[in-house]
Amino acid sequence: MLSDKALNEIHLIKSKYQDSRSCLLPSLYVVQKENGWISPAAMETVGELLSVPDATVKGVATFYSMFRREAMGRHLIQLCTNVACMIMGAERLVDILRDKYGLQPNGTSADGRFSLVIMECIGACDAAPAMLVDADLHGNINENTIMATLDKYA
Ligand code: FES
Repeated sequence: MLSDKALNEIHLIKSKYQDSRSCLLPSLYVVQKENGWISPAAMETVGELLSVPDATVKGVATFYSMFRREAMGRHLIQLCTNVACMIMGAERLVDILRDKYGLQPNGTSADGRFSLVIMECIGACDAAPAMLVDADLHGNINENTIMATLDKYA
């Protein structure tokens, strides 16, 4: 389920805290970073590693919207459509993602390559319209450049 690297990261986190419950957020983040989401099985594993009840792990994993509880595509596109990005054409980019990749907001392409989440603001208003692909920020994107940008993500 989790790689040795992820398990080691969680053990390292555990060594830094006296209360195992304090390790939950960073440990769940490790899981999401590795798998793209947090499955029920992964929650169980984290609970076992930290000696924290399953209900506590599930409570934390379901409370925070930053934790995804459904499988995602290999790459996560977070496209901002808030005011600055909307004015600069973000809605047209949503149309392109739908037409070219079959992507709907909160959906995954049929080939499992991309998932799309619409964001309110990703803090890159000066480079609107902007999107994150995984951890990579792309600004000043437009309908001519978005596909070339996404071509880099197999
Ligand atoms: S409004 Fe789009 S990044 Fe801020």
